Amino acid sequence: MLRKLISPTQAIPEVAAVPQHIAIIMDGNGRWAKKRLLPRVAGHAVGVKRVRDIVKACAAQGVAYLTLFAFSSENWRRPEAEVSRLMELFVEALEDEVDRLIQNGVRLNVVGDLTRFSPRIQELVTAAEVRTAGCNRLTLTIAANYGGRWDILNAVNRWRAANPEATVIDETSLTEYLSLGDIPEPDLFIRTGGEQRISNFMLWQLAYTELYFTDIYWPDFNAEALAAAIQSYQHRERRFGRTSEQTHA
Ligand code: IPE
Ligand code: IPE
Ligand code: MG
Repeated sequence: MLRKLISPTQAIPEVAAVPQHIAIIMDGNGRWAKKRLLPRVAGHAVGVKRVRDIVKACAAQGVAYLTLFAFSSENWRRPEAEVSRLMELFVEALEDEVDRLIQNGVRLNVVGDLTRFSPRIQELVTAAEVRTAGCNRLTLTIAANYGGRWDILNAVNRWRAANPEATVIDETSLTEYLSLGDIPEPDLFIRTGGEQRISNFMLWQLAYTELYFTDIYWPDFNAEALAAAIQSYQHRERRFGRTSEQTHA
């Protein structure tokens, strides 16, 4: 753990020049493919390659935590063929990438309601998490069948099960039960693909995150585009409710 877990609504966190936690909505695969007259799933395949590049680029920049939205709880609404291709790509990535993650010192963590995935995917996820557990250069969290509302409700329900006598929950207790409760909240949120919305991503954790939107489609997002996002972040003033003067004091 690089810094103490501080909730920005409870205390003012220290802010480093390089965001310690970046959370990304990897959007625009379908439109990237369509522009090239390719099937949407071709965009997803190229998108997987960009994950590899961006993990490396984040590690090189000194980012400690990277969280990627790979599949939302609402993405099941897509055509069945697209959903099954996404599942295949997930399996392929879990089969092929783990050695590379270990070489690069990347610990993998998958969050979301995994019970809806095939037993094969669930086994591969557990195996990959176990094999990379000792890696400490960067923690890569993949959000799959994840939704911010699911995360909050799941946390409340798990807290209730663990504390049947208690009636009131506080912020610290809830945080402990959230999917990403053991890592600092994101400093920087990036959404590629031009849409300016959160789409049910980390609703709780984004409370004081700096938001960055780019029109670049995910399959075109590279180390240079990441550096531009970090540069934008470095020009922000994170006040956490204070005045500018207080922030600089
Ligand atoms: C993001 O790209 C990948 C997933 C949601 C799995 P999209 O598939 O949403 O691409 P667009 O938004 O249709 O271009
Ligand atoms: C958000 O993208 C989910 C992921 C990138 C995994 P969507 O493409 O599903 O979001 P909407 O539907 O445009 O809001
Ligand atoms: Mg999209």
